[in-house]
Amino acid sequence: MRTAKEYIVFPLDLPTVEQASRYIRQLSDHVGMFKVGLELFVRGGNRILQTIRNESDAKIFLDLKIHDIPETVRRAMEQIAGWKVDFTTVHCGESPHMLTAAVEGSRGRVSVLGVTVLTSVSAEDIGNAGFESRYAQNLVDLVVLRAQTAHAAGCAGVVCSGREVKMIKERFGPDFAAMVPGIRPAWSLGEKDDQKRVVTPAAAIENGADYLVIGRPIRDAEEPEIAAEMVASEIDGAL
Ligand code: C5P
Repeated sequence: MRTAKEYIVFPLDLPTVEQASRYIRQLSDHVGMFKVGLELFVRGGNRILQTIRNESDAKIFLDLKIHDIPETVRRAMEQIAGWKVDFTTVHCGESPHMLTAAVEGSRGRVSVLGVTVLTSVSAEDIGNAGFESRYAQNLVDLVVLRAQTAHAAGCAGVVCSGREVKMIKERFGPDFAAMVPGIRPAWSLGEKDDQKRVVTPAAAIENGADYLVIGRPIRDAEEPEIAAEMVASEIDGAL
């Protein structure tokens, strides 16, 4: 059985490798995975991956959310596959070829997750972006359609919100991983930000999430370790 901390993914959304390093040391015993996103990767390149390995036993999620023509995606994935990271992301996008190319490029050395619909996107945004009205009325359908494409392409799982994870688990089974951002513990819900389809850690676990990406509620807490422990005990309760 996995421990509560193994479910917690902390995004290193920080401007410098030095600041990220401080959080890595502080949170190593409290989270199961560190996520490197665009901000830090653009700033520090793959040096940050070595820093994580040197300072922690946690898994590594290189979240670059790639979206490009299949050949470019395949070649980028071949580079990522050489870096010994555990997870990486590609947008599900408009065509299955990008996902197939991502999986081919990964060569089984890194688990590829398809990004379905960002948790910062609302049904209204989808309507305004020109999608069929049935998707704007029921965003879950679009998430499931994109998850279906990712599943068929051989992705290890998807990134989706805690509101859709139950449906995805029912459709694609327990081994198709669900990485869930947009997690907001009840004690952090007062602060408004860009996330729209949010759920609490307990609700995400109850719905079947495998990993909970939780950033600002931990990063901006006065004592990040304590915040991570509060999340872990909520997860424990739900497990
Ligand atoms: O918990 P918080 O909102 O601070 O987490 C932000 C992190 O979640 C960012 O690193 C962002 O890239 C990630 N995220 C994601 N997929 C989404 C939404 C956010 O990976 N759909």
